[in-house]
Amino acid sequence: MSSYQTRRTPGDTAWFTHDRFGMFIHWGLYALPARHEWVKFRECISEEHYDRYFKYFNPDLFDAADLARQAKRAGMRYAVLTTKHHEGFCLFDSQYTDYKATNTPAGRDLVREYVDAFRAEGLRVGFYYSLLDWHHPDFTVDFLHPRRFDADARQLNAGRDMKRYAAYMRHQVRELLTNYGKIDILWFDYSYADRPNDDPRLAWTRGKGRDDWESEALIALARELQPGILIDNRADIEQDLWTPEQYQPLQWIRHPETGELVTWETCQTFSGSWGYHRDESSWKSPAQLIRMLVNTVSAGGNLLMNVGPTARGNIDRRAEEALAVYAEWMRWNSRSIYGCTMAEPDLEVPADCRLTQSADGRRLYVHLFAYPFKHLHLPGLADRVDYAQFLHDGSELPLHVGKAANLSINYEKPEDGLLILDLPVRKPDVVVPVVELFLK
Ligand code: GLC
Repeated sequence: MSSYQTRRTPGDTAWFTHDRFGMFIHWGLYALPARHEWVKFRECISEEHYDRYFKYFNPDLFDAADLARQAKRAGMRYAVLTTKHHEGFCLFDSQYTDYKATNTPAGRDLVREYVDAFRAEGLRVGFYYSLLDWHHPDFTVDFLHPRRFDADARQLNAGRDMKRYAAYMRHQVRELLTNYGKIDILWFDYSYADRPNDDPRLAWTRGKGRDDWESEALIALARELQPGILIDNRADIEQDLWTPEQYQPLQWIRHPETGELVTWETCQTFSGSWGYHRDESSWKSPAQLIRMLVNTVSAGGNLLMNVGPTARGNIDRRAEEALAVYAEWMRWNSRSIYGCTMAEPDLEVPADCRLTQSADGRRLYVHLFAYPFKHLHLPGLADRVDYAQFLHDGSELPLHVGKAANLSINYEKPEDGLLILDLPVRKPDVVVPVVELFLK
């Protein structure tokens, strides 16, 4: 049996750990400068200057249905869209601000289009909501704020009131969780109360966390409006999801205090930034993309892979190609992902491989990260496997116990429990080939 007991949480994680793979969508005004979603902060861009992106936000090629189809084809089962990112711009038609898509040339509630389209494809729908807000007049200037180096930055804070801002967030979360039907995930981002403030010029500022966001009330509101919703941990109060970002966890994440296994989802990018970045050249290779998904599931986690639509609203060719890599691989191999998890801990991982196992424990999937020559050695499995095949085409992989049968001279001693599979010499035309083992 390989279904693991994880730390209990308030939300419904059963569908989530089954589905394993989702699409993150980072989209906002930062798609126009196209040089990172933190551009306003990094370049300390003034409101007036940034307003030009609001004035010219005209995503004439945004086609939510097309994006939903691409996500589905890639094997993604759910999505999370930035309804508001740190810049404060809202993709939805909020009553509580003018800083929203309906007041730009776009003239539409883009969250509505996303929700309808993704739902129509049978995908679950999630909302990202930024706790930071670089536009809101009550959000105080701190060391992560574009105004931090303004000459009058300290005075700016005098009239700002985080309590009013926290109420604004509750109003908006209420809108988001009331006006769009069932929402499966709420992804708050993020808290930095404990982050060291190491720039002496900014010693007068401090980070923000649950007291500033009034997280307890915010979360209670979300749970009241959408029971069962999954919430991440970034509002600074532990909820359902642990969200390691932009690195590959090699082991199942454990609760730091109790040591229990937790429900986790790693979020990753195709090229480094989350928002559309025109000039980035650090795009991941097809093999890296597939391995990230496999590595994640082999350690009991989910992968939330990001796309950043352009200012015109479509995703560019590089992103389409990356999604197509997933589509092609998942078309044949998704059985090793959906409903799968980390393999039983006593199973030995063969050289250059990653294992996943179906939740009922009956099938074991061996992902060949480096393709071996003619034989796959599976230590300890001699008595446990009934049948073996490649997953992508269901072709048999003959089994031998102890040593490779067709070797006329075998210098290695037969090894107890060693199972050997015959593989074709040429690697099949699959980025990461998968061997499916039916266990006894
Ligand atoms: C970080 C960044 C942000 C991005 C997020 C995704 O917290 O601030 O730009 O949205 O990670 O996990």
